[in-house]
Amino acid sequence: MRLRIAAGNWKMNKDFNSGIELIKALKEGTTAQDGVHVILGTPFIHLKDAVAMTADVGHIDIAAQNCHQEEKGAYTGETSASMLHSIGIRYVILGHSERRQYFRESNELLGQKVRRALDTGLTPIFCCGESLNIRNEGWHARFVKNQLERSIFELSEADFKKVIIAYEPIWAIGTGVTASPEQAQEMHLEIRNAIAEKYNQSVADETTILYGGSVKPANAVDLFSQPDVDGGLVGGASLKAETFIPITNAFKQA
Ligand code: 13P
Repeated sequence: MRLRIAAGNWKMNKDFNSGIELIKALKEGTTAQDGVHVILGTPFIHLKDAVAMTADVGHIDIAAQNCHQEEKGAYTGETSASMLHSIGIRYVILGHSERRQYFRESNELLGQKVRRALDTGLTPIFCCGESLNIRNEGWHARFVKNQLERSIFELSEADFKKVIIAYEPIWAIGTGVTASPEQAQEMHLEIRNAIAEKYNQSVADETTILYGGSVKPANAVDLFSQPDVDGGLVGGASLKAETFIPITNAFKQA
């Protein structure tokens, strides 16, 4: 049985106090469900408090939004995987399209970051997804498969099994345009088939694949009902308890 996940990616939003308030509200407003995890990808300034605040809540975990590929050293402004691990972080979002676009993170660099995260005991939530141009030209499946081949498909089977994948079509991120449940299902199945081809069917069947891109309370149930959609990575709607809590509950109706 695959783990199902409702993950929030706060990106560069929330000052310290409003972030802490949101964590409190989510702690009170979300409930434990069998086989379901809630993950909060907070800014770095909240991480340590977020871990402490949710230590007694089994169904909530905290994720960082990035880590550096090197173990340590003279990299001003960066945060290492082992620093994150040392404050109790167990998940890290890697490969988000905003990191790829604004910080020029390549598939190869992301492969190194994933390797470092895994070696340090962090679970990567690895993002992939195509632009609108690529979707319109019709080679989105090939593009995403290539992203995976040049980064996480380099991993051994044992390591790959620890990775969570998030399919996030760039045209659906922050635009209000959501992939239809059918479009999401089609790509999730493509990704799962690519995993089966590279590793084997049982690895593919066990891999959690999240959908990201304008997930809202109004569409979460339909998306999460798709057989190969195991949850969501949520941006805007994760910034308010009243929109994120219903998304965490969408599995009950899916
Ligand atoms: P939105 O939910 O705001 O579209 O963002 C999705 C995303 O980028 C999550 O990582």
